[in-house]
Amino acid sequence: MFEFINQELTELRKAGLYRELRLIDLKSHKIFCSNDYLGLSKHPKVKERAIAAIKEFGFGAGASRLISGNTPLHEELEHKIAKFKKREAALVFPTGYMANLGAITSLVNENDTVIIDRLNHASIIDACRLSRAKLQVYPHKDLATLEKILQRSEKFKKRLIVTDAVFSMDGDISPVKEIVALGKKYNAMTMVDYAHATGVVEIEGEPDIAMGTLSKALGSIGGFIAGSQGLIDYLRNKARSFIYTTALPPAACAASIAALEIIESELQLKKRLWKNIRTLSLWERGDGSRQRVRVAESSIIPIMIGSAERTMNISKKLFDNGFFISGIRPPTVPEGESRLRITITADQSKEDIECLASLLQELIPAAARLT
Ligand SMILES: Cc1ncc(COP(=O)(O)O)c(C=O)c1O
Repeated sequence: MFEFINQELTELRKAGLYRELRLIDLKSHKIFCSNDYLGLSKHPKVKERAIAAIKEFGFGAGASRLISGNTPLHEELEHKIAKFKKREAALVFPTGYMANLGAITSLVNENDTVIIDRLNHASIIDACRLSRAKLQVYPHKDLATLEKILQRSEKFKKRLIVTDAVFSMDGDISPVKEIVALGKKYNAMTMVDYAHATGVVEIEGEPDIAMGTLSKALGSIGGFIAGSQGLIDYLRNKARSFIYTTALPPAACAASIAALEIIESELQLKKRLWKNIRTLSLWERGDGSRQRVRVAESSIIPIMIGSAERTMNISKKLFDNGFFISGIRPPTVPEGESRLRITITADQSKEDIECLASLLQELIPAAARLT
């Protein structure tokens, strides 16, 4: 009966696409694939506030927000997010994945269309499928095709454009301002997923729906939607991934509140992050010459390899040399576009970054010479 499981696992192994968990030992390995961009998950103030919240509220929230799971910390966090994003209101979800799911499935249905960038995150794609709206995909950052799709889509009742702000596997930035302008021109709603931008880069443009996660540069867990008060009231009533799930643990809210305060007060963290990004993207060799690894627009620096097998081999060699960088393979990225997805964080040392750059140069000279 379960023969298909063995067959499919064998196929995955053969194609070099079999996934396994790797146990991380922070003592033996330098992590260059975490999304904890500002190192806030380990910031003393974040830990302190989370511990204080556990002492006051216990751990689990015990029920959904609309039943008995709503604490003052949940509401304080939403006020802080709204202020941080300069929006009227915000709604917090247990994860970013659930924020995308809840928002998109509430905003569009089978009478509507949702128009997305080809490289949008899986949570957006899953949400679009679940919404039953007609899914239309434009080539990566191709505004001309997006406009053509909008012109051809007048028959739909509602139109929603969704894009990542920083693309999660490529690290490049979406033309948010131009997309918002197209949305206004064609009377389409615009939604931007700021998961990898928050705390890292400011991007111009104000979409109707701003989505973000608390789980990356904020070092915590949770997702959010920020926008008009009407939008938030609507989602509180309609978003199934908000209504039918237990609220975030109060301690997670406390950690996120502390993280937002740190982002606003300890500006040197972001400066350090960008200094580190520049160190890897333009590292200086021993002879004084400069070598560009990759032009970086964010803390995500992918090194394109191509074959899944070769990617995993290089990832293993890096691991054997003390660096943990996971290989990214299909279906996360398109066929033939496997890569090492390096991420830079504020707490990495210059020495470690330079050591990684020389290792990359040794293991993949062609890729490391990308300009
Ligand atoms: C672009 C993007 N959106 C949404 C998510 C989901 O966020 P979370 O991990 O908080 O569920 C992620 C990452 O996981 C992401 O990279």
